[in-house]
Amino acid sequence: MAISAWILAPCLLLFFSPASGTDSTNNPADQLVAAINSNRTAHKSTKLFDNPGLGCIALQYIKAYQGQCDALGDNKKPPDSSFADTLAPNCGVEAQTLAPISGRLLACQSKYVSPDQAFSDILIRNAESLQILYNKNHTQVGAAVTGTDGGAPYFWCVLFSSGKTNSTFVLEGGVAKTVHPGCFSGNNDDCSGAARLGIGLWKMVAGVLIAMACAVGL
Ligand SMILES: *[C@@H]1O[C@H](CO)[C@@H](O)[C@H](O)[C@H]1NC(C)=O
Ligand SMILES: *[C@@H]1O[C@H](CO)[C@@H](O)[C@H](O)[C@H]1NC(C)=O
Ligand SMILES: *[C@@H]1O[C@H](CO)[C@@H](O)[C@H](O)[C@H]1NC(C)=O
Repeated sequence: MAISAWILAPCLLLFFSPASGTDSTNNPADQLVAAINSNRTAHKSTKLFDNPGLGCIALQYIKAYQGQCDALGDNKKPPDSSFADTLAPNCGVEAQTLAPISGRLLACQSKYVSPDQAFSDILIRNAESLQILYNKNHTQVGAAVTGTDGGAPYFWCVLFSSGKTNSTFVLEGGVAKTVHPGCFSGNNDDCSGAARLGIGLWKMVAGVLIAMACAVGL
């Protein structure tokens, strides 16, 4: 009895763990926003509105880097004019509702990590990024994550804005244009990390094998 409980517990954890990559209702971009907001509120900063129009733009923003991690920080950074010229129209965000971007956080690496780890290990890594996180001008946020061609490298992008929360980054007809692959926050999208981001299939296979071993072990 005691032994089977010891076996059962890890098996259940495996089945329900998002890390197994089989949870189709996951949206890592929403989870990143949750991590940002919980860290901000613990720091007595305001909770930011998760704006889907801004989230979609964050996903478009990543695309400017064309999957090149080493382009972060150099001249691949999209010019401010691109918000009106390409990013907003590609998402179906009404151009006249664009508002100032009050901060951006961007990171890229070849390994896929959980949203919590992306937040604490790669996006927030120095005093400067902490300052961006806690900036009092932010009212809203949009986040996105994408893999290139359904695999590594994985880009994480967070855009903050100081615009009015319900009248900026407004989506035409209330829905974002399809901008997959990738996941963005605020749109109630079912964005499975495995399906949309191309997280290694072997992980799912390993998950299934271990789950099967568990079932057999019982
Ligand atoms: C907020 O995030 C920073 C960076 O990861 C971390 O150092 C700090 O401890 C976090 N604060 C809370 C309250 O979780
Ligand atoms: C907040 O916005 C004001 C007005 O745009 C600007 O002058 C100020 O530097 C901003 N504060 C921070 C912390 O970025
Ligand atoms: C947006 O905010 C204004 C003023 O606070 C309010 O009157 C309006 O109903 C809000 N619109 C939506 C869609 O929430």
